[in-house]
Amino acid sequence: MASFHKPLVQAIRERRSTPSFDAEPIPPRDLWQIIDAGLQAPSGYNLQPWRFIVVQNAEQRKRLRAASYNQAKVEEASAVIVCCGDRDGWRRDLEEMIRMGCAAGMPETYAAQAAANVPEYLSSFSPEGLAGWLNKHVSIAATTMMWMAEVLGYDTAMMEGFEQQRVCETLRLPMSYWVVSLLAIGHLKGADKFNGGRFDPARTVFSEEYGRPFR
Ligand SMILES: Cc1cc2nc3c(=O)[nH]c(=O)nc-3n(C[C@H](O)[C@H](O)[C@H](O)COP(=O)(O)O)c2cc1C
Repeated sequence: MASFHKPLVQAIRERRSTPSFDAEPIPPRDLWQIIDAGLQAPSGYNLQPWRFIVVQNAEQRKRLRAASYNQAKVEEASAVIVCCGDRDGWRRDLEEMIRMGCAAGMPETYAAQAAANVPEYLSSFSPEGLAGWLNKHVSIAATTMMWMAEVLGYDTAMMEGFEQQRVCETLRLPMSYWVVSLLAIGHLKGADKFNGGRFDPARTVFSEEYGRPFR
């Protein structure tokens, strides 16, 4: 089924965190396009520490809702992509990253440097530091999926309202997984959410150094 395409500038202007979805399934081709967009995201050393669990089954959505403070949209959405990071992913993936890179022209010096530096860098993190590192990468990939879904004409809602342990149990996630966010995708049902607006950039954007207005 051909999807409707919306220009990204329009999607950025119009997107709202969808309050309620109809549960119409998403064609697999669209879902793959959305997922693939996330997988194209950049990551430090190209380590791609993200992992995604795509939940579409109605019973599983209901169980996930129970682990997400009973947020109705978790059950109503056509698909919920549970965006996770794998704390130990790099231990298995570093070699593959280097192999793929070398096949595509990665300089040998860079490969040797990555092989030496990555284990040192990532094993130096505290548990909180590693969660921060994962949050950063997984959020970039999840946001890329969100925009692809919006451009394809879907409505989305990013969520942090869930219980980490309960989501891990519900989805039978490995111990090394850390759940970062849920991305609900589908079509808006009923009225959209109000637009709460954004702060004046004078509060959030500076030029050259802190405190200097960017004009
Ligand atoms: C990381 C993240 C987590 C969020 N978690 C929730 C959530 O659990 N439940 C919810 O209803 N909205 C959630 N939101 C939506 C925000 O409330 C919403 O983005 C904000 O109010 C601005 O509204 P807008 O997205 O429509 O512009 C979340 C948004 C982000 C980016």
